[in-house]
Amino acid sequence: MKNSHEDPIKSLFEPKNIAIVGASNVKGKIGYTILNNIVSGGYRGNIYPVNPKGGTIMGYSVYQNIADINETIDLVTVAVPAKFVLDTVENCAKKKAKHIQIITSGFSEIGNIEEEKKIVAIAKSNGMRILGPNIFGLYSAAASMNATFSASKIKSGHVAILTQSGALGVAMIGKTAVDNIGLSAIVSTGNKCDIDENDLLRYLVPQKETRVILMYIEGVKNGSKLIDTLKWATEKKPVIVIKSGRSKRGAMAAASHTGSLAGSDEIFDAIMKQCGVIRAKCLNEAFNWCEFFAFCPTPKGRNTVIVTNGGGVGVLATDTAEEFDIDLYDDQTVLKQAFEDSVPAFGSTKNPIDITGGANSDHYKMALNAPVNCKHIDATIALYCETSTFDSENLVPMIKDTFENHKKAGKPISYAIVGGEDVEKAMIILKKENVPVYNEVNDAVSSLGVSFQYQRYLKEKSDLVEEAEIDIERINSIIDLALKDQRPFLLSNESADIMSAAGITMPKSKIAKNINQAIQYANEIGYPVVMKVVSRDILHKSDAGGVALDLINQNEVLDAYEAIIQNSMDYNPQATIDGIEVSEMVEKGVELIVGARMDRAFGPIVMCGMGGIYVEVIKDVVFRGLPINSHEAMKMLKEIRSFPLLLGVRGEKKKDIDGVIDTIMRVGSIIKKCNKITDIEINPVVVYEQNKGLRALDVRILIKNPQEAT
Ligand code: ACO
Repeated sequence: MKNSHEDPIKSLFEPKNIAIVGASNVKGKIGYTILNNIVSGGYRGNIYPVNPKGGTIMGYSVYQNIADINETIDLVTVAVPAKFVLDTVENCAKKKAKHIQIITSGFSEIGNIEEEKKIVAIAKSNGMRILGPNIFGLYSAAASMNATFSASKIKSGHVAILTQSGALGVAMIGKTAVDNIGLSAIVSTGNKCDIDENDLLRYLVPQKETRVILMYIEGVKNGSKLIDTLKWATEKKPVIVIKSGRSKRGAMAAASHTGSLAGSDEIFDAIMKQCGVIRAKCLNEAFNWCEFFAFCPTPKGRNTVIVTNGGGVGVLATDTAEEFDIDLYDDQTVLKQAFEDSVPAFGSTKNPIDITGGANSDHYKMALNAPVNCKHIDATIALYCETSTFDSENLVPMIKDTFENHKKAGKPISYAIVGGEDVEKAMIILKKENVPVYNEVNDAVSSLGVSFQYQRYLKEKSDLVEEAEIDIERINSIIDLALKDQRPFLLSNESADIMSAAGITMPKSKIAKNINQAIQYANEIGYPVVMKVVSRDILHKSDAGGVALDLINQNEVLDAYEAIIQNSMDYNPQATIDGIEVSEMVEKGVELIVGARMDRAFGPIVMCGMGGIYVEVIKDVVFRGLPINSHEAMKMLKEIRSFPLLLGVRGEKKKDIDGVIDTIMRVGSIIKKCNKITDIEINPVVVYEQNKGLRALDVRILIKNPQEAT
């Protein structure tokens, strides 16, 4: 990911000239507003309005055709009705334009896919890149360029926004203005017919002015590429994402547990976490966090103190701190020494440090400056509840002063000031001065919390490339047999063969074609044994009464054989019975599920979690996009609520965690290397004590529809 990310679209953000096709003299038209915003925004390059009527607009000579412009164009903004767009793009190609942003609506978003495809084809064959269509435009502080039809004034700053929703993007511009958040860029991505988040991040991530990137995403088209780009991006800058569609309606219908457990939002969420992206639930949260990342130093260590004038808000902050995994420092000797001068006798130097309701601005200054000089404290949460004893005229200077001191010391401080009119006025002044202050305790704590979360991600991330070795040729030949048979799934013996080719241990087993063979195999394997029907027509063997467990002698094997055949025929009289599988009855252990599937948006993903028959009810599973390494697989296990079971509870010994990690890696390798498999699910994987390994007990593998796969 080195050279491929060097800003190939710099001239989209920093064009030396702009042509506006559809520029208009008529106030209120989009072609007028965009030209007006470009001019009034202070863009310094050449501006070329294009309109067949010619003449002048806002003092600029109008070109009747883009072909008449005597310069190659870096950025063409198109604001003509949809029926003229294709022609315009063709003219741009003749002019060898570099980028075209198509404001116009009326393409794939309303089903006009063909026209959009034609536009992309022309652009591709002429080396042009297209932003949009169906967008409000692009603002880039680096070029003082407001080529949007949104607000005429956008404050420049350090937050870059990429938004798939135009309307929400315009609303965000409004909100950033009210909250005094400056932007380095805002880009409307619209239908993403060509340029997408991947391209835009390539410019924004290395760009000096951009300190934090906020993305609003509705849908992901090329997820594998996005994973790659986001991992690269978050190494350098924090990325915050808001995605709509958290509800279950977006969940995919699928034939396996892995599929039904993997609602699209769960996968999105897991993959964002894996890439170090911070996910916000709403705009408020996102902007709070953006402000904090833009203006506060990053924490160097984990020790945090809460300083408050009220016990209640202190407790609220403590609750949210726990939620965000913030370490509240509690070395009493250090805290007492640091805060004893600023805390009255009836206050508390225990974290939260309570400087009590009588505190004035001097007390606050003293208490908030204490962490600056204390080498054991890395971050501070400062809480202020409005009181009549506080000299409110000094609230702003006190916060500005203490914020500066913390900044100079390279330590983050997050303020929550709660109260009435005076507090709200102070908030407005402080935000103008780029001091991140909040009027909700939760906002102040969560902002520091995500800053810690990001630092933890950077510290723990591992770029180690690992690939489990599997016999892919053997796997493909097993699948080819099933495809020949026109089956979209594998029989249990075929799945077992795939496990063996991938180096995953299954119980000893053989397929008996008759009752004598069943007895012979049971004697060879050793009692107790398990017997299962093998039939392409019976996928859910237990439902069909096709499974018998814990058979301890020859007679039981004989009875079970007859019962399984009878039950299976009753369940599906048309079923072809390929045999009865006789397997070793495995001992009890911790039951996990390990799975993998081809996700429509993100490509190959793996899953692991608590297994067994209640897997969908318990829903203790985690996902990752591939590739992963064993470090990431371990992180997956640690995220499972039931992880302590693997560590051993109630005197039990630690389980074979390395074996589980190895299995996750091998299952991941199968789905990644064999593109004919759509779903793999091992449930349960029975895990034994450390070094005693595990057994993949039941394996289901689905393959592509035979018509698609060949
Ligand atoms: N080359 C140059 N100029 C042309 C051409 C051409 N081939 N054809 C027409 N024009 C001129 C017109 O003469 C007109 O100029 P005039 O005012 O001097 O007569 C100008 O281009 C605009 O053409 P109109 O026919 O007046 O079109 P109008 O401005 O009404 O609409 C627009 C064009 C805005 C692109 C419209 O078709 C459209 O798509 N609107 C939706 C845009 C949108 O919402 N995008 C998504 C944003 S995201 C969000 O939701 C906020």
